Amino acid sequence: MEREIIISAENIEKMYGFGTSALRVLKGVSLEIERGEIVSIVGPSGAGKSTMLNLMGCLDGFQNGALKILGTDVAGMSVERLSGFRGAHIGFIFQLHNLLPEFTALENLMMPLLIRREKKSSAREKAGSLLERFKLADRMHHKPAELSGGECQRVAVARAVIGRPDIILADEPTGSLDRENSDILTDFLIQLGEEYQSTIVIVTHDMSIASKTGRIISIIDGKIQQS
Ligand SMILES: Nc1ncnc2c1ncn2[C@@H]1O[C@H](COP(=O)(O)OP(=O)(O)OP(=O)(O)O)[C@@H](O)[C@H]1O
Ligand SMILES: [Mg+2]
Repeated sequence: MEREIIISAENIEKMYGFGTSALRVLKGVSLEIERGEIVSIVGPSGAGKSTMLNLMGCLDGFQNGALKILGTDVAGMSVERLSGFRGAHIGFIFQLHNLLPEFTALENLMMPLLIRREKKSSAREKAGSLLERFKLADRMHHKPAELSGGECQRVAVARAVIGRPDIILADEPTGSLDRENSDILTDFLIQLGEEYQSTIVIVTHDMSIASKTGRIISIIDGKIQQS
């Protein structure tokens, strides 16, 4: 298969705030990720991992450098175009699961498909069968507040993959799970990514999760640490 760079970051600098209170978080991050790769990003708390993942997910902007996602320069895109681009190509699993509280698990899964204007009947069928694969069939008509933390994380993973996105970005997707369940969910995420031919980037503190991925990128104090 031909190599295709799906995410390309060049010398990215990002700071929060202004003037004397400005905090430099990313200090010249460059990386390339190929289509189909499964990569983890590790590093200490506060190193800039979530910040970098949010940039790759087109959820935030940066001050200097260049970022291309699927060959598209996202720095110059309007907020509206960015959100359309994200919906079409990227599935994001947040550090806190970010499910919509007013909607059931099933409805949360249908949402990305409905936003893409898929028919309701087909969205419902896909959501139902994916929830079955996540062993959540009997919980699908419940809202997040009625689900356990681990169940919410499974719904969040299912919601990120349901549209078979080119890129799946996961920020500590198993943060609140015990060892066994965190292994099961990570293995399943990787298996679905392979099945859907998605590129996966997982941010994690957990080296045993990182070791399941094809490549480990380490960020320390806003810079990539070459290994
Ligand atoms: N919206 C924000 N405004 C100001 N500072 C922020 C903001 N978001 C993050 N930061 C700061 O930027 C730095 C990097 O944060 P980031 O969330 O990227 O860290 P992280 O590597 O994901 O850490 P963790 O492992 O704890 O999740 C931290 O010092 C954090 O306090
Ligand atoms: Mg983080």
